[in-house]
Amino acid sequence: MTRTYLFLLVISLALPVRAEMDPSDYEVPPAELTEEEATALRARIAAEIAADRARSEAEAKARQEAEAAEAARLAARPIGAQLVDVRCAACHSAETYRQANLGWLGWQATVWRMDLLNGAGLERGEHVVIKDWLYTQYPPTGGRAAQEWLTLLFVVVALPLPWALRRRRKRRK
Ligand code: HEC
Repeated sequence: MTRTYLFLLVISLALPVRAEMDPSDYEVPPAELTEEEATALRARIAAEIAADRARSEAEAKARQEAEAAEAARLAARPIGAQLVDVRCAACHSAETYRQANLGWLGWQATVWRMDLLNGAGLERGEHVVIKDWLYTQYPPTGGRAAQEWLTLLFVVVALPLPWALRRRRKRRK
C-alpha cells in the first residue's frame, strides 16, 4: 500500500505540470467574417490610415508655409522697423511710441537716452535709423516740435546767461 503511494508520488513529481489555461484561451475568437467582408474591412482601415497621414502632412506643409511667409514679411519690412524690434521691443510696444508725442529733437534725445541710460545697446549708426523711422511713423502733434526747439533755445541761451552777466559786471568795475 505504502509502496503504491510512493510510486504515485514519484510519478506525479516527474510528470510535467500542465497549466490549466492555454494562451489561446485569451484570444478573442475571430469574428465570423466572410472573405469579402474581411477584405473590405482591411481596405477601409488602410484608407483611414492613408487619409490621416495625408491630413497631417497637409497640416505640416501649411504650417511651414505660414512660418516662411511670416519670416519673409518680417524680413521685408523697412530696416528701421526691424531695428526697433531688435533694440526696443524687449521693453516697449508700439503703444509707447504712439503716446510719447515726440518731435525730431525729442526722438533724437529719447533714442540716445534709451541707449545710454536704459541699456538699449545700439551700435554705431543705429540711432539715426531708429530715430528717423519712429519720427516718420509717430509724428508729433499739438505744437510739440515747436516746444522742443524753444526748450533747446532756452537751454542754449539761458544757461550761460549768469556766467555772461558776471563777466560783464567784472569788466565794469
Ligand atoms: C531695457 C529696457 C528698455 C529698452 C531696451 C528701451 N527702453 Fe525705452 N524706456 C524704458 C524705460 C524704463 C522707460 C521709462 C523711463 C524713462 O523714460 O527713462 C522708457 C521710456 C521710453 C519712452 C517714453 C519716453 C517719454 O519721454 O515719453 C520712449 C518713447 C521710449 N522709451 C522709446 C524707446 C526706444 C525707441 C527704444 C529702442 C531704441 C527703447 N525705448 C529701448 C526702458 C527701455
